[in-house]
Amino acid sequence: GATLKAAAERSGRYFGAAMGGDRLNDAGFLAIANREFDMMTAVNEMKPDATEPNRGQFDFRAGDAIYTWATQHGMRVRGHTLAWHAQQPRFWAGLSGSALRTAMIDHINGVMTHYRGKLAYWDVVNEAFAENGSRRSSNLQSTGNDWIEVAFRAARAADPGVKLCYNDYNIENWTYAKTQGVYAMIRDFKARGVPVDCVGLQTHFTGGSSLPGTFQQTLSSFAALGVDVALTEADVTNAAAGQYQGLTQACMNVPRCVGITTWGIRDSDSWRGNESPLLFDRNSNPKPAYTSVLNALNAA
Ligand code: G3I
Repeated sequence: GATLKAAAERSGRYFGAAMGGDRLNDAGFLAIANREFDMMTAVNEMKPDATEPNRGQFDFRAGDAIYTWATQHGMRVRGHTLAWHAQQPRFWAGLSGSALRTAMIDHINGVMTHYRGKLAYWDVVNEAFAENGSRRSSNLQSTGNDWIEVAFRAARAADPGVKLCYNDYNIENWTYAKTQGVYAMIRDFKARGVPVDCVGLQTHFTGGSSLPGTFQQTLSSFAALGVDVALTEADVTNAAAGQYQGLTQACMNVPRCVGITTWGIRDSDSWRGNESPLLFDRNSNPKPAYTSVLNALNAA
């Protein structure tokens, strides 16, 4: 394949990007997105604060604008995200206990009903673990340890056709405590029939450090539990070509690794913009890392 999406599709995978609503007016961004990518994630526009600013008052305008552009250009869409400690509706701050639990369920129902049948994946729960492998403290965690499985069960009921993902960062290295904490939860969920279909590894890598040598082991270990895995927000400091090649190769080596998404397209799109972490530079030119990713996709 001559493009990222064509190369990924050779093995039945996708190659995705993330975009904010402001990119809908950015012809340079849209041209690359349309040429190279076949999956899109909204950077902020489908998050809880964006979609339910006031209780029971849903606002899907910004999310729908991205969904519509992406699908009109042949892309599928990953939903991001439904339950998270950050970017919550302001009214959640005034809630706790069973009232917050109910608000979370109502939010999942409201958003997933709107997008029912339209999305390929939903990040149902995002970033619920601490670095030491225990649950991260949050208002949602304080509603009871079962909040995550309750979210997944509500999600399955609201849209039975979309794949339901748990998504987190710093879970790429197999020997890391946080990875093991998430792994234990997914293993438990599969054993008890909690509906989880996929694990998203954000894959925010720091340059200079070597790619975790155990990354492929992490992907295959999760996959062996019976879930798909995906690299959902990939970026690498200074777009180190070797690290990009390695993370792509790790995915290609694991049959249930369904695709890779980079968190933006050009460095000017990135939350880590001063670290030059993406595959295209500010002038929309592909960087050496682009070629190494393309070659790794085509090698399969
Ligand atoms: O929209 C307001 C704007 O009105 C205001 O003038 C401006 C001033 O700061 O802020 C704007 O909101 C910002 C928003 O992005 C839109 O640009 C928020 O402050 C800022 O916090 C928010 O950052 C987002 C971040 O998530 C918040 O947690 C980033 O764009 C987004 O890339 C980032 O994405 C996360 C994933 O969801 C989860 N994994 C990590 C990843 C990177 O942090």
